[in-house]
Amino acid sequence: MSIWFLLNGMLFIWAVWNVAFGLSNHSSYIHILLGFAGFLLFIFNWTRNAVFSTIRNAESRQTRIRLAKMSKRIRPYHRWVGTSALIIIILHGSVITHLYGFNLTNMKILTGFLASINLFILVLSGWYRLLIDPRSRIRKLHIRLGISMFILVVIHSIF
Ligand code: HEM
Ligand code: HEM
Repeated sequence: MSIWFLLNGMLFIWAVWNVAFGLSNHSSYIHILLGFAGFLLFIFNWTRNAVFSTIRNAESRQTRIRLAKMSKRIRPYHRWVGTSALIIIILHGSVITHLYGFNLTNMKILTGFLASINLFILVLSGWYRLLIDPRSRIRKLHIRLGISMFILVVIHSIF
């Protein structure tokens, strides 16, 4: 099993914790729920990486076949889940900017802004890969952008 299952699971629990804490502390909560919805869609798509590396390393042929079938079923939704994550995060950022202003000296806002730019390029690289050029260079870029997105979301959760 890939280490990414563990890392994604830990980030998921941490996000749930932050969201529960945020909801209990605020009178308006739509911005927090939008952030959480965008996060869920991102982590769902990013788990594709955990599934693919498990398929590559699994000893048992049975496990490899089961995971490959599952990932084939999910494949048509991947592009729309990723694109929806971007749209929902833009809404999250817009509501936040409306509430607190676009104040980049606030670390929460700065790290969220950087994560959104990363997500935008990640989604663009996905569409480029699907429609124009599926070569290995773009594949590597798509995965690296997924890793940097994971790190930026961790940093966004710290502040
Ligand atoms: C323009 C981009 C973004 C800005 C300005 C931003 C800003 C913020 C701020 C200020 C909060 C705290 C809300 C509060 O306590 O009242 C917050 C919460 C949250 N954000 Fe973002 N964010 C952005 C992008 C993102 C991205 C890319 C993700 C993940 C995919 C994300 C996920 C969350 C989650 C789950 C919360 C609620 C839990 C927590 O407070 O950690 N945000 N965001
Ligand atoms: C939240 C955003 C996204 C994340 C985290 C993400 C992540 C991933 C991961 C981890 C893989 C498997 C990596 C591998 O090839 O070994 C993958 C494959 C792929 N992604 Fe994305 N992706 C996102 C958005 C998109 C979007 C919007 C598209 C648009 C078409 C897209 C197109 C593709 C394609 C064509 C593949 C290869 C075929 C497949 O395995 O389904 N991705 N993505």
